[in-house]
Amino acid sequence: MDMNITEWSAPSRDRPRGVTILGSTGSVGQSTVDLIAREPDRYRVEALVAGNSVDALAEQARRLNARLAVVANPQRYRALKDALAGTSIEVAAGPEAVVEAAERPAEWVMAAVVGFAGLKSTLVAARRGAIVALANKEALVCAGRLLTETIEESGGVLLPVDSEHNAIFQVLEPRHRHAIDRLILTASGGPFRNWSSADMAEATPEQALAHPNWDMGAKISIDSATMMNKGLELIEAHLLFGLPADQVEIVVHPQSVIHSMVAYTDGSVLAQLGTPDMRVPITHALGWPSRIEGPAARLEFGGLAALTFERPDSGRFPSLRLAREALVTGGFAPIVLNATNEAAVAAFLARRIGFLDIARIVEDVMAGWDRLSEPVESLQQIQSVDLEARSRAEKAFQDK
Ligand SMILES: NC(=O)c1ccc[n+]([C@@H]2O[C@H](COP(=O)([O-])OP(=O)(O)OC[C@H]3O[C@@H](n4cnc5c(N)ncnc54)[C@H](OP(=O)(O)O)[C@@H]3O)[C@@H](O)[C@H]2O)c1
Repeated sequence: MDMNITEWSAPSRDRPRGVTILGSTGSVGQSTVDLIAREPDRYRVEALVAGNSVDALAEQARRLNARLAVVANPQRYRALKDALAGTSIEVAAGPEAVVEAAERPAEWVMAAVVGFAGLKSTLVAARRGAIVALANKEALVCAGRLLTETIEESGGVLLPVDSEHNAIFQVLEPRHRHAIDRLILTASGGPFRNWSSADMAEATPEQALAHPNWDMGAKISIDSATMMNKGLELIEAHLLFGLPADQVEIVVHPQSVIHSMVAYTDGSVLAQLGTPDMRVPITHALGWPSRIEGPAARLEFGGLAALTFERPDSGRFPSLRLAREALVTGGFAPIVLNATNEAAVAAFLARRIGFLDIARIVEDVMAGWDRLSEPVESLQQIQSVDLEARSRAEKAFQDK
């Protein structure tokens, strides 16, 4: 991604930045709201969007004096309207209203809806040339080139918020792109890093949700436990930085201090480090193309006992292998991988399937799909592949 940063200026009191937060009540969304609330003079909040959490959304909208608050579930419209009665904040509900929120004129949009549900609004923000701070990796995994080409054509910018990709974005020097040997994505290894497959077979949602380093939403926490999160990030790294699968290495780094690295052909390796706090990459994205002050704890090197590294184990964590295969296959494969995984994670959280069934069902659905490498041409096609994969996953849950 090459970008013309002279078009953009950092948020300031003289020129407040218009912002919209899609998924404002989630883990990334709340951190974004908190950062903005610390410097209200630098931002003008256009729209906040949530799925269902009306009370939290209304509180955020009042706190940030947002122009518009949207809840995706249309049945929550009345509750949101009541919660914002007596204010001048506009209220809307339903999936179309979510898309309209993304269309409103905010220069900077945080895409932090979880999962495929965030795809359309992310694409809409990209199409109108916004700075899209991308947390919603599933949108990029599924839309692929459709999203990266949309943003290139519109003159917008895709800023990675995932801490690994944000790290690479910070240390990848575009003028030295030809001299990149490989990207190195770090992975914490999740809560089951040292568990045997037999123990993982019995793992409960509570155990899988207990991430050792990061406090995150439920879906990404389960993805970290299966390591599908790193698999999705592999695809994300390929799409953002244009390197093939065999030039993206994954290394387990349990302390989550090095957030990722770029290795160059002269033997140099550039890393970005920080405390494991999502406010670091979100602050970077909020301030881009400049740097602004953030509240995250400073890294105290004297207090770091050791930084350790291990090779990932795709035997115990087959999602890593499945994601790499999906990336190499291309076409529909990442969409099928993502949809089946989203459905399987929800089924695991609902205690309908076991922990190891998640990857097993993803593998079965992918293996049974004809013409997985067929090229993706439109949003409608992506949506229909997503639906079909979810219905095949549902059948697999019922057959169990
Ligand atoms: N959490 C992290 O540290 C982290 C780090 C890197 C990347 N990410 C990525 O960032 C994204 C968000 O993760 P998260 O952990 O913040 O998730 P989360 O805590 O589950 O929050 C998800 C947000 O999306 C909203 N939402 C859900 N369904 C929606 C729909 N159909 N339409 C509109 N909004 C909807 C939720 O609203 P309700 O509250 O009303 O349900 C909530 O605001 C994911 O793609 C994840 O992979 C997260």
